Amino acid sequence: MQILTTKQELLQQIEACKRQGKTIGLVPTMGALHQGHASLVRRAVSENDVCVVSVFVNPTQFNNKEDLIKYPRNIRRDAELLSEIGVHFVFAPTPEEMYTEEEMNTTFCFDFAGLDQVMEGKMRPGHFNGVVQVVSRLFYLVKPDRAYFGEKDYQQLAIIHHMVERSALKDTFGGLQIVNCPIVREASGLALSSRNERLSEAQKAIAVNISKTLFESVKWAKTMSVAAVQQQVIDTINAIDGLEVEYYEIVDQSTLLPVQDFNHAIGCVTVYCGEVRLIDNIQY
Ligand code: PAF
Repeated sequence: MQILTTKQELLQQIEACKRQGKTIGLVPTMGALHQGHASLVRRAVSENDVCVVSVFVNPTQFNNKEDLIKYPRNIRRDAELLSEIGVHFVFAPTPEEMYTEEEMNTTFCFDFAGLDQVMEGKMRPGHFNGVVQVVSRLFYLVKPDRAYFGEKDYQQLAIIHHMVERSALKDTFGGLQIVNCPIVREASGLALSSRNERLSEAQKAIAVNISKTLFESVKWAKTMSVAAVQQQVIDTINAIDGLEVEYYEIVDQSTLLPVQDFNHAIGCVTVYCGEVRLIDNIQY
């Protein structure tokens, strides 16, 4: 496995792979890798001739400076895991390598068709501009045949599908296929996240109630209205000491607009466990 830190090195390797007619799978990450990432990477390794994993804590998608500073980083441990799985290239640039100063300081403009106006987009203004900025740049550099994303960040996944399949940028990405990968959970049900590293054992035990409530809500959905289920999820999680719901929205899986019934619906939640912001979702 080679670790590449410059765009030029990456472009050279990609050109060589393309010349040899090899297919390329890309897994974009911000590092602090866990078994959730590992499942995406294993899939990318098995479905492509070459697997590229980017490890880049993208500053332009953090609207909270403190969150960016505290984001866990451990490139040595990440590289060990990726090498064991059989990754060919890790792309780990610095922010200065990725962006010009102007790019770093101006908001990337993109037509989200409203997908950024709800949930994470509403709570974290500018977040998805940064995500689209970095992901489109990675697609441009790596020219992958397939790119792998986890369903835990469901809104991000919906926006990336929009970018590749329906937006004005779509022709730039040729036949790129976006591969959705299911949420990986601990045995307790807690969705794996790099942010879990910031939870104490006691907080982890409390955080389990997020997924537990979401699973329960599937039963509630059989007899209750969307509005009633939404409220019951919020009340149940808020009743637990140490958890505070930021939002729970039940929306259409493609448009992310509110729904009247559970057909093609997904419930997306963000909960503060102490200072740590956790997200999860459930498909009805
Ligand atoms: O999901 C993430 O880890 C990030 O948002 C991504 C897609 C790697 C872009 O920085």
